[in-house]
Amino acid sequence: MIIRKLTKKDIPHASRIHRDILDQGVISHLGISFLEKFYWVLLKQKNITTLVAYEDDKVVGFATAACDLKSIPRLIIRQLWRKILISLIKKPFLFYRLIQMPFYPSFKQDGRIGEIFSLAVLPDYQRRGIGTELIKHCRKEFRKYQCELFQVSVRKRIKSANKFYLKIGLSSKSRAKFLGEEIIFYQGKI
Ligand SMILES: CC(C)(COP(=O)(O)OP(=O)(O)OC[C@H]1O[C@@H](n2cnc3c(N)ncnc32)[C@H](O)[C@@H]1OP(=O)(O)O)[C@@H](O)C(=O)NCCC(=O)NCCS
Repeated sequence: MIIRKLTKKDIPHASRIHRDILDQGVISHLGISFLEKFYWVLLKQKNITTLVAYEDDKVVGFATAACDLKSIPRLIIRQLWRKILISLIKKPFLFYRLIQMPFYPSFKQDGRIGEIFSLAVLPDYQRRGIGTELIKHCRKEFRKYQCELFQVSVRKRIKSANKFYLKIGLSSKSRAKFLGEEIIFYQGKI
């Protein structure tokens, strides 16, 4: 298994993994065409790196590390509004969740805080250390960005991800309610 930076060629694969594995998030519900444009836009950002885990000639997992997550809602509004409109025509019920997005606690934070924006490994490749390796490489990116610490947030009910973050040595720092769900924020040293 190798970990490397996402390339344009990887975008369809990473987007599919995002849609299928991180299927609870509003971004997944915006559809594959939105996700592909989203990762294409992220590819050009200096403060955001997406890493892919590559095995058996395919992308089997990925993680996105961002320094200054506040820039993401701005990017979405400025560069992806057309895609959002198209998705909203198909799924108008997403409107409420979308307008709440800029109020997500991580999107309001100041300072040089790194954030794991997304992390997913295909089910057949889980429990083989790939998630741990992806986080290790994210840490390297945070070091390059000169972040002081990094964090990740996860729904309380996703037990496996909560266990994973504790196992890799992150500590639970705070909790918040967002769109009726309890969210746990974990922090780690760079
Ligand atoms: C969370 C996730 C990325 C972990 O990836 P992974 O490659 O399976 O993780 P690792 O193999 O590096 O696991 C390291 C340790 O974390 C813990 N862990 C990982 N998955 C676990 C699970 N499902 N249940 C309990 N503990 C788990 C274990 O202690 C594991 O070590 P072990 O296998 O030696 O017991 C992966 O399960 C996943 O993609 N889940 C679905 C998407 C998701 O929840 N993403 C995070 C949202 S914020």
